[in-house]
Amino acid sequence: MPAVMTSSAQPSVPTDKPTLLSGDARLERLRSIDFSFSDVLNRRKTLIRAAWALRRHGIICLRAAAPQATIHAIQADIKRLLTEIESGDHERLNATTYLNLPDQRVLKGYNHFRDADKPVINYRVARPDGRSGSDAGMIDIFHPERLSDALRDNIAACLQEDLIRRLLLVSSLNQMAVKCRNLYLNYGVKDTRSYHCDGRSLKFKSFVYLTDVRTLNDGPYCFVPGSQRRRRLWWRSARYNRRNKLGPFEFSQLAEEQALPVFANAGDMVISCQRGAHCGHPQAASAQRAALVNMYQR
Ligand SMILES: [Fe+2]
Repeated sequence: MPAVMTSSAQPSVPTDKPTLLSGDARLERLRSIDFSFSDVLNRRKTLIRAAWALRRHGIICLRAAAPQATIHAIQADIKRLLTEIESGDHERLNATTYLNLPDQRVLKGYNHFRDADKPVINYRVARPDGRSGSDAGMIDIFHPERLSDALRDNIAACLQEDLIRRLLLVSSLNQMAVKCRNLYLNYGVKDTRSYHCDGRSLKFKSFVYLTDVRTLNDGPYCFVPGSQRRRRLWWRSARYNRRNKLGPFEFSQLAEEQALPVFANAGDMVISCQRGAHCGHPQAASAQRAALVNMYQR
């Protein structure tokens, strides 16, 4: 049975976390959500199977979705961008992006980032109220496809939006549209948000990994399979959250539940229903993880 642990959403309130699947149990779970991207692309039957697996489990993994040469080109562009930021010469970036450095904020609030007319390079910082779950140390780039023409083409090749929209239509019977594109750069991020959902409306995210995520130290995406369909599980947390002044979307009551850490190679794509209980596992100090993230909504 999972021990009662302290939530990372608000340290003073105890919450129950799920057990992380490991060994054969993890592999067994993985088998039901694992598909080859080229099979989904080329075989209608596999696309339908993947869509129904997503409906049932709330998460699927499409292997080898992005070409390795494209991944390497994006990685090289990210390296150049970070070198430019670290050089301290920000003349070009100040003209072409909103550069939100830890000690110098030029734009505030998710809606402003999402609706910005230029890319937003946002360094996440510790919350001013001291509460945890801040993702401090993470660099969250909004609209990375607008950073350069080369990135626009390479990112489009990774995201495969036409196919993913078709898959989401079969899975959810809803026309979904891309509402936001992000590039997440996580370097030794320890203070990740605990299990939560991204609101109760229908929303999906696709994550294309640009680096390998092979161990818990790398900070894999973790998901409680099936939790997107279980209203009672959600209400149990919602009641507890109200009584204990936790945020409404924290999955604070997951004792007896099992979460799947999704390990992946660079180029794999994870698609997840954001109503389900999910979190990013805290990373080791030296770990690096990069992922392209698309948010799909009606
Ligand atoms: Fe989330």
